[in-house]
Order: sequence, then structure tokens, then C-alpha cells
Amino acid sequence: MFPATVYSDRRKKLRAELSGGLVLFIGNQEVPFNYPANTYSFRQDSNFSYFFGLDHPDLAGIIDLDEEMDFIFGNDVDIEDIIWMGVQPTMKDQAAKVGVENTAPLTGLNEMIKIALESGRMIHFVPPYRGETIIWLSDLLHIPHLELKEKASEPLIRAIIKLRMKKDPMEVAEIEKMVDVAYKMHTTGMKMAKPGVVEREIAGTIEGIALSLAGPVSFPVILSINGQTLHNHYHGNTLVEGRMLVIDAGCENDLHYSSDITRTVPVGGKFNDRQRGIYEVVLNANLTAAKAVKPGVPFKEIHMLAATEIAKGLINLGIMKGDPTEAALKGAHTLFFPHGLGHPLGLDVHDLEGLGENFIGYDDEVQRSQEFGLAFLRFGRKLQEGFVMTIEPGIYFIPELIDIWKAENKLAEFINYDVVETYKDFGGIRIEDDVLVTADGYRVLGKPIPKTVDEIEKLMQ
Ligand code: GLY
Repeated sequence: MFPATVYSDRRKKLRAELSGGLVLFIGNQEVPFNYPANTYSFRQDSNFSYFFGLDHPDLAGIIDLDEEMDFIFGNDVDIEDIIWMGVQPTMKDQAAKVGVENTAPLTGLNEMIKIALESGRMIHFVPPYRGETIIWLSDLLHIPHLELKEKASEPLIRAIIKLRMKKDPMEVAEIEKMVDVAYKMHTTGMKMAKPGVVEREIAGTIEGIALSLAGPVSFPVILSINGQTLHNHYHGNTLVEGRMLVIDAGCENDLHYSSDITRTVPVGGKFNDRQRGIYEVVLNANLTAAKAVKPGVPFKEIHMLAATEIAKGLINLGIMKGDPTEAALKGAHTLFFPHGLGHPLGLDVHDLEGLGENFIGYDDEVQRSQEFGLAFLRFGRKLQEGFVMTIEPGIYFIPELIDIWKAENKLAEFINYDVVETYKDFGGIRIEDDVLVTADGYRVLGKPIPKTVDEIEKLMQ
């Protein structure tokens, strides 16, 4: 945990953004895996973690905006708990570690909320995303489940986004440590990418590295020789020469700061000409996009820059044709690069996404597009110093999408469909880094993970 003052300062800053009422944070509860006593690994809610730090189930926090008091509600363990879990610090002692003096058992929460509701006080809460929290919140506030999302507090959502989006140096250091663990995960995965190995051998090994050096993976490992499926969680294929292996994986630590890195390597460690050609286009888009990162630049512009570079590279390879800028503006690149350039990263791997993507990524100045491809861009607004973003361009040959576009002769002025046909067995390539927006530019976080053709071939040999 950070020192207690970090959490008190965060709550103080939140208080300064809001006027009147109570702010209620419900921590996460245990979630059953296949029967009540066999649960998934516990993961605290990120907002609770940010403001109240404590990392175990069945807690709630309240920030009283009028009285300038903070409360943590949770039960002390009894002898039955001690038999199974061992002795635990009292709630009072735990709360002191995050700068909170006022604690009470969970029944006290019911009491406080009841009084607040009776006296008509505003109760700010964020949209819940877990069934258990939805039920708890619904019972507590007497709001039907289906209405909780719309009744969540927009001022609170906006205030949290303002605070959490800008990472301070301590937070950046935590993210960077997780990128360094990802270095170990990815370089190990690259070295294992030999013909005859089954994907799950690599996926299991790199997940084990995360667990042994830090904590759980920050999202289920994406690892496949069928990288044309963007989020491929099937790990049953045997690696064969001629395929590219996409590994998209990161981890989180006990504070829940995360990393999210993608590398793509040729099975066997040597790029063939076709693989090198496409790889260099993605790498150029990755590097060009990262270089464009600085405060004040809309991320949507950087996405379009990467899209234009991809169009330019594919034109050079004879896969696309025409003017690259026009091709990107018309969306022709989305046949090959159908997703967004990146997303914020922090306590959540898609940081803050539970509060609503449009609140996080868009504003009055930059609106979300409805166009295929650009609509998947999770974040479009201007960057600010302290934001941490992923930069993750890719090129994919998705046979089913190619068939649909070709049948429609879609944007045929920019696409050489005959050439595209010959790439249908290619798979996909994505290259992803975690990038901090600095005062005057950017910094790719962590120990550099092999990325150029030469670096990858050298490591894999
Ligand atoms: N890297 C996985 C994701 O962004 O969803």
C-alpha cells in the first residue's frame, strides 16, 4: 500500500471536485467459481482501491462531503474466521493505514445510508459492474437493479476520471514495474515459440511468470497463431513454421497497477519476406504514433496518423492502392486495422472503463465516430501530461471480413483484392507498448522489450 497520506490526499481532492452529500464506494466481494465456498481470486474494485486502499472483500467507504469525514465499514473477524484465515488486523488498525479514523461494522453502513435517505441527502455512487455489488447497492439505496446505471452520479464519474487519469510518479513507477515483469513474460514467450510447441504451454508459462513475480495477469492472456482474431483466448493450436504468434499479455501487482504489452513473432524465430514486410508496416505505425504523443494532441489524430502509415505501408506492398491519406480518411485501412490505436492504462487494464467509455475518452471537442473501425477507438480526446496510454496498431487478414468487403467491392479504389486474397492465410500482427505522456512528449515505459526484426530474431536464436 502507499502511505496513508496518499489516500487521504486523494479523498481530499475528490471532495474539492464535488459539492454536498455522501460519496459511497462499495468494495468488491468474493465471487463463487463453481460453488459458494470456492471463489475466484479476490480482486478489489479499482475505485475503492484508489480512495481507500484496503484489499479484502466486504468493505464499503463513505466520504461525507458536508462533514468532511471519511468512514470505512467492515466487520472484524470472529473466532470462526480466525480458524480458517488466521488472526487479522482490526478494522480500526486497517483503516488507520489509509488515513481513516472512523470505522464501523457493515450494519453501520445500513444505518448511515438509511438516515441519509430519510433526510434527502445526495448519495453519489459509480455504476456497479458486478452482480454482487448491484444487489448490495440496490438493497442499500432502494433503487431497482436496472436503474442503478442511469442513477449513478455523473459529477462523481467526471471527478474520478479527472483524478485517476493523471498518474503521479509513484503510480507510474508501479506501472513501470509491471511492464518490467511483462518483459520477462514476453521474452520467455518469444524464446518458446518453436514449431511443435502448443500455445497453452507458452500461455501457462507466462501466466506463471506474472504470478511468481507480481500478481495475476491483468486480463486473460491473448496468445495465438491465429492472431487475425483480435482477442484470441483459445490456446490449443500447435505452433507451425510460417505462422506469426501474437502474445498480448500483462500483469498487475498487489496495488492493482497493470501492464498491457503485445509482441508478435515468427514461429521458429526467422521472419520470411512476407512476414517482414507486414511487420515493418506495423512497427513503423507503432513508432510514428508513439512519437506523436504529447500533451494537447487529440489521441484520435494519433490514431489517424497510425492508420495513414498503415495505408502507406500496405500501398508499398501492393495490398492497397491510391493516396494513403485519402484511403485512411475513407476508412479503407479498417479492412486490416479495424480497432482503435489504444486505451488508458492504470489500475484497470482499460483504465476507468467501468465508468463509461465515452466519459473517459471523449468530450465536447472530440466526439466518438460511428464509422466501422473508428467507432472502436476507446479514447479520442486530447492527451494530458500524466496520462498513460497503450499504443497498439496492428494489421490482420480476417478471411471472413475480406470476403464481405470483396463481395461488396467495398472501397475497391484503395484495395487490391486479388493481392489481399493471397494473404488470407497470414494471420495478424499487433505491436503494443505502454506510453506515458510527459510534459513535452512521451516515454515508453519499462525495460525495452525486443521489437525490431533484428532484436526479435536475435533473441529467438
Ligand atoms: N490487451 C488487451 C486489451 O486491450 O483488451
